[in-house]
Amino acid sequence: MIGSWVGNLIYEGKAKRVYRVNDELLIMEFKDEVTAFDGARRENAPGKGRLAAAQTVFFMRLLSKYGIRNHLVDWDGDRKVLVRSLKMIPIEVIVRNYAYGSFLKRMPLIKPMTKFSRPLVEFHLKSDELHDPLITSDDIIEAGLVNNDQLSEMVDTALKVNTILSNFMMSKGLTLVDFKLEFGIDKLGNVVLADELSGDTMRVLINNKHLDKELFRKGASALELVKAYEEMNRLLGIP
Ligand code: ADP
Ligand code: CDP
Repeated sequence: MIGSWVGNLIYEGKAKRVYRVNDELLIMEFKDEVTAFDGARRENAPGKGRLAAAQTVFFMRLLSKYGIRNHLVDWDGDRKVLVRSLKMIPIEVIVRNYAYGSFLKRMPLIKPMTKFSRPLVEFHLKSDELHDPLITSDDIIEAGLVNNDQLSEMVDTALKVNTILSNFMMSKGLTLVDFKLEFGIDKLGNVVLADELSGDTMRVLINNKHLDKELFRKGASALELVKAYEEMNRLLGIP
């Protein structure tokens, strides 16, 4: 039972606190807070931590059924998720099905919400200071962040995750616009899907209405965001 796990706080990020249980395990505690614009806007969001943890656990379990290796171990049914401790790769892998967000800023020749001919995969360096700049696969290899095989595996996995999540959402009448993944490396050198999969890290639409953090970025209150996450969970059958 995760409820009995204890750990020392080793990191506090914008969305989660991370506790070390032992060499192998960490607890990710999802905060009842929402931030946007690299933390410049922040509000308390009672209930959000549990909803985002539930989404993450649900999606990670769904991906496991399709053989996608990920860090999930257990969930306390509330805001805490027990995960395998990994050496994180400081890259955000973004998959896009429709043109939105930072894509439109750098590529204004494509109209908002155009469906791409195939999913696009891109990499951003994880750096709040530099606002997560877009980087190329050559940059990644040159910097030695991962090797060629590991990079190919990250891309393959990201595309598989996209197929699984897009199909699942479509079966419930939702559209997956884009999402962000993070990966870590385990002791054997395997690339493992990590971090979270929630309304904070994906754009999901129902009848052109966002059920994700875009609402907050566009000015909605934290309370409205929590309601949208509740709706996402109800529509997807997430407990
Ligand atoms: P941020 O650092 O962007 O503010 P969070 O508040 O979500 O983000 O913090 C969670 C941190 O935990 C992130 O730095 C993430 O890379 C890290 N993390 C996620 N999964 C694991 C894992 N399995 N092992 C080690 N670190 C992880
Ligand atoms: O959000 P913004 O327009 O700045 O960035 P984007 O590159 O268009 O984001 C693409 C997807 O990745 C969206 O679903 C974001 O929620 C997600 N993302 C994230 O989870 N964390 C980031 N630091 C950046 C993007």
